[in-house]
This record gives sequence, structure tokens and C-alpha cells, in this order.
Amino acid sequence: MAIHIRDAIARDLPRIIEIERLAFPAPWTLASFERELTLPFSRIMLAIPAEGGGASIAGFLCRWLIADECHVLNIAVHPGSRRLGIGTVLLSEAISEAKATGAGVVTLEVRRSNLAARQLYRKFEFEERRLRRHYYGPGEDAIIMELRLD
Ligand SMILES: CC(C)(COP(=O)(O)OP(=O)(O)OC[C@H]1O[C@@H](n2cnc3c(N)ncnc32)[C@H](O)[C@@H]1OP(=O)(O)O)[C@@H](O)C(=O)NCCC(=O)NCCS
Repeated sequence: MAIHIRDAIARDLPRIIEIERLAFPAPWTLASFERELTLPFSRIMLAIPAEGGGASIAGFLCRWLIADECHVLNIAVHPGSRRLGIGTVLLSEAISEAKATGAGVVTLEVRRSNLAARQLYRKFEFEERRLRRHYYGPGEDAIIMELRLD
């Protein structure tokens, strides 16, 4: 599937929120996404499948690029478009960009119970570094994952 990547603008936020709410039990609010758009070190990239005229957003990834670290804060694909390689394209773009800017590491946090996401990150050779217990609430641990680029 051909997928085009572009940066989000304010007009895209309703669709981003729609995907966010379908993806997470405690979704980010509109205000959190609006804030990301104002931060110079933040980027929300959108995955736009070519089919359908290239107008619909199928997924997004939000990352911070600070000093030599790319931190992936959020990635989600619309449930109707999963397992088509869209998450892979988004993550590839974030990693390529990090490499191109000379970053040494890509980091992220994932729920221990989120086997789909952990499998996706493993495919990119992210390593599970440590655990933050109860980070997402009682019994919901976070795994800190890291991909070294150097
Ligand atoms: C995680 C997520 C972004 C993956 O997006 P996607 O577009 O479906 O991912 P891809 O199609 O690129 O899948 C790439 C690989 O990830 C793994 N994967 C993805 N979904 C999986 C699932 N449900 N079960 C097991 N492995 C899975 C597989 O290894 C897959 O490769 P394969 O399809 O060749 O087997 C998507 O499931 C999602 O939006 N989940 C809800 C939000 C979320 O959990 N985000 C991560 C927060 S840390």
C-alpha cells in the first residue's frame, strides 16, 4: 500500500482525535495535541494512504527531537487500517529522520500488555531496557524501549 507522510496542521486535529480515542483507554485531549503543534521540537506526522484520493488520515505518530534523542510519544493507526504496514511506515519515517539529524537513540514507553505495539517495536530492533511499575495505573506497567542508532 502506497503511503504518503506529511506533518499535521490544526485542521487535522479532529481526525487525529478520532483515531486517538479508538486507540487508547485514556486518550490525549484536543488541548494536548494543540500544545504539540506549538512546540518547536515536536512533530506530528500523518500517514495518508494513496488510495481514496490521498485525503484520509489513517494514522499518526508524535515525536520529540531533543538534543541527540528522538522520543516517540504517541503512535496510532485507525482500527480499520491496521496490519497494512502503516505503523511500520510511520516508525520508519521517525527513525530515518532521527538518523538524518544525527540523533543517537530513539526511545519510547509501551504498556506491558500491549503485545501488538511491542511486536512492532521488536521488528525494528528496539530493546526493552527497563520497567516503570504502575506507570499507566494499578497493574499497568510501562516498558522503556530504546533503539540505538550509533
Ligand atoms: C501498534 C499499532 C500502531 C500498529 O500499527 P499497524 O499499522 O497495525 O502496524 P503494521 O501493520 O505496520 O504492523 C507491523 C508489525 O507489528 C506487529 N503487529 C502489529 N499489530 C499486531 C497485532 N495485533 N498482534 C501482533 N503483532 C502485531 C507485527 O509484527 C506486524 O508485522 P506483520 O503484520 O507482518 O505480522 C496499532 O496496532 C495501533 O494503533 N494500536 C493502538 C495504539 C497503540 O497501542 N499504540 C502504541 C502505543 S505505545
